[in-house]
Amino acid sequence: MNIRMQNKLNLLRKAGKATILAIETSCDETAAAIVRDGRVVLSNVLYSQIEIHKQYGGVVPEIASRNHVEKLPYIVQDALNKAGMTFADIDAFAVTSGPGLVGALLTGVSYAKALAYAQDKPLIAVNHMEGHISANYITHPSLEPPFMCLVVSGGHTNIIHVSDYCTYEVLGSTRDDAAGEAFDKVARVLGLTYPGGPNVQRLAEQGDPGKYTFTKPFKGEDHLDFSFSGIKTAVINLVRGFEVRKQEYEKADVAASFQKAAVDLLVGNVFEAARRTGIRDVVLGGGVSANAVLREQALKHQGEYRVYLPDLKYCTDNAAMIASAAFYSMMKGCTAADLDLNATPGMELL
Ligand code: KG4
Ligand code: ZN
Repeated sequence: MNIRMQNKLNLLRKAGKATILAIETSCDETAAAIVRDGRVVLSNVLYSQIEIHKQYGGVVPEIASRNHVEKLPYIVQDALNKAGMTFADIDAFAVTSGPGLVGALLTGVSYAKALAYAQDKPLIAVNHMEGHISANYITHPSLEPPFMCLVVSGGHTNIIHVSDYCTYEVLGSTRDDAAGEAFDKVARVLGLTYPGGPNVQRLAEQGDPGKYTFTKPFKGEDHLDFSFSGIKTAVINLVRGFEVRKQEYEKADVAASFQKAAVDLLVGNVFEAARRTGIRDVVLGGGVSANAVLREQALKHQGEYRVYLPDLKYCTDNAAMIASAAFYSMMKGCTAADLDLNATPGMELL
């Protein structure tokens, strides 16, 4: 442990105040943001590489890493400019150190370490999933734990009981594909481009969600886990069947029916978790929480529960949520990251 950096971090914690510049490069978004005291976004800059990866049908890790390296200095400078600040105004740096693509994570981790060293300021390592949860602290200034959180992204699908800041218990997870991954795979089968989620949603708007029904996994079982590979395979078989028989079908109906099946599972389990634990506050986070039908279905429980959805720009990957998570990590007495901080691609939440 670097005692001097830890002391600096401890002083910030005692003051209960910090302006944090965060960097996020876990996948294909190069992002930097400056957030005051975990809640007030002073700037939030994002360079999306979607156009580059689209032609390959998904994220190519090596290309993502190279683009992060190229864009990071400009994105960080832009974050400072937009906040009207210089490095002198920053109290601490933060960076996503996992989970994610190892090469992509490493670019952010290396850059943040260099910044912290050059500016002689503490660095806070952040778990990307904590970031997705914290996106709600930005959107809802009065939201505080305890709450039940559904985190649905391209790599994760978890029901998390957030009993306090930075205190988590995972009550349910996917046993196979993540929700976002299922959206992306179904999109591919329907001939839609990457990232699949928003495109499936757009196509589904013209379709009939009641046209096809897919068997619910784990019928009669008592746990809160998810499975999406069964629904995904059913969709693939359905489409292939139409193609083999040269039968006309409406892709929009398939998209809408798949979306309904996925959303029913997600919403069903998170509110069941809330019901079982007696928790009234239900929070969504992660890229898939941008889905309009998921948001609409979750909001149907407003009243019986208090439902919190992140602002659309904080659903998918961004650095503001990382800065917010870093602030609460600091307030909970986290250790300042050393210069030997490494990327942890398979990082768990606990
Ligand atoms: O959180 P995120 O930006 O990155 C990860 O941490 O994985 O989530 C990306 C995922 C992708 O799978 C994408 O297809 C999905 O979120 N997604 C959506 C929507 N917008 C993004 N899925 C369904 N509907 C959407 N509107
Ligand atoms: Zn994410």
